[in-house]
Amino acid sequence: MSKVVLASLIVAGASALQMPTSRAASSRVSPVADAAAKLGRRGMLAGVASALIAAPALAEYTLPDLPYDYEALEPYIDAATMRFHHDKHHATYVANVNKALEGKPAKSILELQKDAISAGGAVRNSGGGHYNHALFWEEMGPATGKGPTGALAAKIDEAFGSFDKFKEEFSAKSAGRFGSGWCWLGVKPDGKLAIDTTPNQDNPLMDGGCETKMVPILGLDVWEHAYYLKYQNRRPEYISSWFNVVNWEKVAFNYEKYASKGQGVPF
Ligand SMILES: [Fe+2]
Repeated sequence: MSKVVLASLIVAGASALQMPTSRAASSRVSPVADAAAKLGRRGMLAGVASALIAAPALAEYTLPDLPYDYEALEPYIDAATMRFHHDKHHATYVANVNKALEGKPAKSILELQKDAISAGGAVRNSGGGHYNHALFWEEMGPATGKGPTGALAAKIDEAFGSFDKFKEEFSAKSAGRFGSGWCWLGVKPDGKLAIDTTPNQDNPLMDGGCETKMVPILGLDVWEHAYYLKYQNRRPEYISSWFNVVNWEKVAFNYEKYASKGQGVPF
């Protein structure tokens, strides 16, 4: 059902609800509202309701709010960087993926990832950018000094030897990612954890997006826009500071609830 027909039905339905009873007054109503009157209020409302149910939802993503203030990650990540990173860069990915998918049926941003590469550059870059940043904001929080605990801590020890060794490997791979991209901690199909990087806005959920097939639970944005204002070219310093604001409680939640069961973290 087209938007125009749907709008007419809604307008007619609203008119039917306000339909005057006198003949003189009824002569002033539009032909559409007149038809609505003949259908009766109940019939018209049923028509509007079924039209609303039948209309396919269209793809339209929205920029999620940060789950904390811009200043919350200071001094490790400065408020100015958070402000333009979220309000400008992430907002642009959202606007561009909406433009690329205009008129197409809705999919969650998680569902969009699998075929994003075959869907073309705009969906790959902006759809990936939207998902990656949504995860990035959620996996961070004000510094608590706490590391991983519980099942996730045990899996980290199993895969890397210790939390410190995990940080060493994650840091080296993040620093070594040439150009713009992301470093990921994820869960492989065999249930073990792994670290790998992707270029640009690719991620391991995309078919062909990452050499290691895995469900990401933690991603580090190593684009210069994520750190240049405060750290300039000192990417290793940014990486080491960023570890202070990882919300391990949230990462452990995403591991237990989704990734350990082979499911991507939903947004
Ligand atoms: Fe970014």
